[in-house]
Amino acid sequence: MPQLPTVPNTDPSKCVLDSFRIAIAKRLSEALPLTVEQAFSGVDYGKKGEDFTVAIPRFRLPASPSEIAAKVAEKFQPDEWIESIVHDNAFLHFRVNTTNMIREVLHQVHHLSHETKSGEPEYGTNTSGAGQKVIIEYSSPNIAKAFHVGHLRSTIIGAFLANLYKACGWEVISMNYLGDWGSQIGKIAYGFEKYGSQEELEKDTIKHLFDIYVQAHKDTQSDPEIKAEAARWFKRLEDGDEEILSKWKEWREKSVKTYESEYERLNVKFDVYTGESAVSQEGMENVLEKLESMGLLVESKGATLVDLEKWKLAKAIARKQDGTSIYLIRDIAAAIERYEKYKFDKMIYVVASQQDHHLAQCFKVLELMGLPWAKSLVHVNYGLVLGMSTRKGTVVFLDQIIREAGNVMHEQMQKNEEKYQNVEDPETTSLEIGITGVKIQDMAAKRINNYTFNWDRMLSFEGDTGPYLQYAHVRLASIGRKNPHLLPLPAPSEIDTSHLAQWEAARNIAFLLGTYPDVVKTALKTHEPSGVVTYAFRLAHAISSAWEVVIVKGEEDVEKARAKMFLYECAREVLAAAMKLLSIRPLERM
Ligand code: ARG
Repeated sequence: MPQLPTVPNTDPSKCVLDSFRIAIAKRLSEALPLTVEQAFSGVDYGKKGEDFTVAIPRFRLPASPSEIAAKVAEKFQPDEWIESIVHDNAFLHFRVNTTNMIREVLHQVHHLSHETKSGEPEYGTNTSGAGQKVIIEYSSPNIAKAFHVGHLRSTIIGAFLANLYKACGWEVISMNYLGDWGSQIGKIAYGFEKYGSQEELEKDTIKHLFDIYVQAHKDTQSDPEIKAEAARWFKRLEDGDEEILSKWKEWREKSVKTYESEYERLNVKFDVYTGESAVSQEGMENVLEKLESMGLLVESKGATLVDLEKWKLAKAIARKQDGTSIYLIRDIAAAIERYEKYKFDKMIYVVASQQDHHLAQCFKVLELMGLPWAKSLVHVNYGLVLGMSTRKGTVVFLDQIIREAGNVMHEQMQKNEEKYQNVEDPETTSLEIGITGVKIQDMAAKRINNYTFNWDRMLSFEGDTGPYLQYAHVRLASIGRKNPHLLPLPAPSEIDTSHLAQWEAARNIAFLLGTYPDVVKTALKTHEPSGVVTYAFRLAHAISSAWEVVIVKGEEDVEKARAKMFLYECAREVLAAAMKLLSIRPLERM
């Protein structure tokens, strides 16, 4: 292909559509008083049916945009990069050279999926974050309390962000900040004496601690003496009493262990389990002292408040009447300790929008304390989920959600007896598909939107659902199994992809594959998984429209059959990459 100029922030070796965009920019720069770089910034994806569109008015040239566009269009001669151009008022639509685009895209997808230095598929990745470190804090449930939908959303969105930052070259530290300290621990300590059983604890840690907590909480509500007793337990813990400390350690360790195996089911992993307990008393004292010296503390009814009225962030409790410190100060001290330990370039908190105010206060205080890294803190928030329950009632534990997803999906699959017979391990498969359903429902819309949890809808094979996406992948994976005579495919240079140019459906798929690296880049800017979900469905739909026209089975011309198979194989790679980015494990069979 003919040589092109280089443009900053593009990388044709990772995103070959960059080359086609640069070719368009070069054209424009030759016809108009613009540098290639200026022209490049005006080359956007087109609407349906158009590859790229340039809106001439954005260049603010001293002539009528429509006349300029007409002039560029008149002079146009097709070349190896661009096939045709359409003048549409102040817009120019460009269609890239079909044969070359298909070949270049498929070769790149293949190359970056199979021939990387790391040995891992890299198509869609970039190096924009190289040398930078990000902490992503997510999930962060509370020991002995319910794992609610807020935690589920944080887990799903956080896992996506961790994958995304890695795909963009960042060093990622994924962190779980457990609610493992505070008055609820005192209640457990009191309750365990009264209701606890070591046997139950071993059998089902999370449930047992939760049951104790519920009971103990009730007791403290009805009897002030018990409330005081629970508080004394917590005080002993804070004072480092060995006996209670070792019990607490056991409860925490066992809970983490259970969580770890459930996270594993969800394809989610943490580099660090920390928690409220890990924040040092000294760190919190230092924060309070600093705030005091800055004149930000006020006393009110025995408690100490941070006054953030000036910044329209109201007043927040810094220390309670009984001297115990509080969520906010703990978070501030935790951030400082994390910075000292990790020297991160960015830290992201994946926490529900109910805590917008809390995190705004936290970030503000850190900024007021003069910490330069405070501006690198980001709150990725999300809306509520309504009505998450199983058929047995409200959900309190993560494993209830996982199990219900598997069960509902299993029943769904059993309805198609013939197909069900052929599934090797229906239990595992239905669990995986069920989890995919939960994740896709969660990530399908903008984070900030609330949504209603609906098992039937999310686990249906119809519509844009997780099961549909898995099905699309499985169908692609089955082409090889159904046409073994074509395997293994020869090296891409031996495959004549020009056969594919005759089908618009094949062209659509190839072009969409080419856009994937941009989908990843956009997601990094917006922190929205929904863009990736939308992309995965667009791709699945494009593939599904191709099945009837670009047919492998029965194609007698082996050259053609191979080209088609190569296209589907590349499509599978990219669909799998998008699914993995969303923390989904693509299935080979179902
Ligand atoms: N454990 C908290 C809760 O369940 C969430 C923690 C969020 N992270 C933080 N740094 N405050 O509400």
